[in-house]
Amino acid sequence: MCGIIGYCGPRQAADILIEGLKRLEYRGYDSAGIAVGNHEIKLEKRQGYVSLLRGKLEGNVGIGHTRWATHGAPDDRNSHPFTGCSGEFAIVHNGIMENYKELKQELLSRGHRFSSDTDSEVFVHILEEEYEKTGDFREAFFDSVSKLEGSFAILAIHRGEEKIMGIKKDSPLIVGKGNGENFAASDIPAFLPYTSEIAIMKDGEVCEIERSSIRFYDMRGTPVEKKFRFVDWSPDAAEKAGYEHFMLKEIFEQPMAIENTIHSLFSRDFQIGPYPKIDIIGCGTSYNAGMLGKYFIEKTLGIPVQVHYASEYRLRPPIRENPMSVFITQSGETADTIAAAKLARSRGCPTLAITNVIGSSITNSVEHVIHTSAGPEVGVAATKTFIAQVTALYYLGMSVGRSASMLSEKTYSGLMDGMRRLPRLIEAALESEQRISSVSRLLKDSNSIFYIGRGFNYPVSMEGALKMKEISYIHAEAYPAGELKHGPLALISGGTPVIAIVSRDETYDKMLSNIREVSARGATVIAISHEEEVDDYADYRIEVPEADDLFSPFANTVVVQLLAYHTARLRGCEIDKPRNLAKSVTVE
Ligand code: AGP
Repeated sequence: MCGIIGYCGPRQAADILIEGLKRLEYRGYDSAGIAVGNHEIKLEKRQGYVSLLRGKLEGNVGIGHTRWATHGAPDDRNSHPFTGCSGEFAIVHNGIMENYKELKQELLSRGHRFSSDTDSEVFVHILEEEYEKTGDFREAFFDSVSKLEGSFAILAIHRGEEKIMGIKKDSPLIVGKGNGENFAASDIPAFLPYTSEIAIMKDGEVCEIERSSIRFYDMRGTPVEKKFRFVDWSPDAAEKAGYEHFMLKEIFEQPMAIENTIHSLFSRDFQIGPYPKIDIIGCGTSYNAGMLGKYFIEKTLGIPVQVHYASEYRLRPPIRENPMSVFITQSGETADTIAAAKLARSRGCPTLAITNVIGSSITNSVEHVIHTSAGPEVGVAATKTFIAQVTALYYLGMSVGRSASMLSEKTYSGLMDGMRRLPRLIEAALESEQRISSVSRLLKDSNSIFYIGRGFNYPVSMEGALKMKEISYIHAEAYPAGELKHGPLALISGGTPVIAIVSRDETYDKMLSNIREVSARGATVIAISHEEEVDDYADYRIEVPEADDLFSPFANTVVVQLLAYHTARLRGCEIDKPRNLAKSVTVE
């Protein structure tokens, strides 16, 4: 999983490419590189962040890459772009070329010499061979991509031509139309300061980009008509807007993320269901959103919901019934989730995806799509997309319930009111930031933190623990509070921090007992609760606004996100780009 960008126009390509790559770094940041060409192709690439590139290359057409290593170590040698033996071409690639070993073997036997261990490099060598046959860049590009298997978004340039050729298959590629200049990139924010007029490429489509023209083709070379449209994201939406980190900015954008998601969902009439059973499938934070969806749908509709990790779902043998299968992925590019969706569809399950990225790969693999409208999320740790996913799942449950007459009009409109109040609820929860920041001091030197909750607060605990380990590198585990005494309690000793999420619902009294149990073993208990009575049980309490059982998880989520953020900040961690991780995981 990597980010790619291409530019063709009157400006210095290197400047545009480097600036764009910085906005794509969430996709990977093991190495970065650019190739700029007119009469000759000039290259700069190196291990590490995009900011290490100097960008002193002259030329008006170019391509760039930011890498999350899959094939080959994250070092200078394996950085993109690649220029092959002749230096006539440069290419960048996002995805995996599954048949690269065979292709490489053949190329080596014909005398090609490779400079890297990557799968990607084979493409530039194929391009060289194909070009020798015809002397035509476009034709050579078509002939070369026809040899590839796997997933790929590729951009290529040729010495002496002001042209970029691109292909998309199972990895994203968006084309941006400017005024006398044109762009292509893995994601819209990369070129948003220059144009908001975009076309999203579909699988198997090829683009040919010049300064003042953009042409699209299918893989056989037949021209394809594509519509451009305007996106209403301001360039600022992809910047930090004064916040220290993207993650903090995105946490504070949650009221707006919910508002926008609700607005787009409510304006759509879902006639969906009834379904006797629902499966929800996702990875990481998207899985946790699915867990909250399960608690909501089971409680309000009584429909059984099973939540699966996408990577495990794929090992599941066919089962007798075909449940409605809901795939959650903010990026829409997670390989395991896409593969799971394809599997479910091939087995005849009705499929629906919830994603934040319009035109992302998952949308081609399912029958129905719900777009969350959280806006671009740059921080690797998902925050506003999680809140938007849960919002979408609640609305999905309500729509199924309504169209199958499982919810009375009164209940439905009560739930709608609750949904409408969510942005205000989140704003109120955000007001506790100061307190959360000071409580984080208690956590910053911990080796291990436990999160406990019951019912709806168990998935919130899971998400809190995931956020904490992801950005602060502190070991954190979530348990349903009732499970503690079945093993994990043995790990509690003097000063072990336990974050207890306590709502005034059917779980309240039992949660108080669980707090007692861990306190008795010396734990330091930090409660997240609206209830003052909890002060008698916990060592510290973070106040959350009062909310109905079904909606309190939204407020509690904000607190666990901020707790992770401030703990990581005190530890001096790279919050927006945690080690070993990337924003979208396109490998299985
Ligand atoms: C979230 O903070 C993580 N970065 C990660 O768990 C993420 O949720 C997971 O990789 C799934 O991503 P997706 O939603 O884009 O499919």
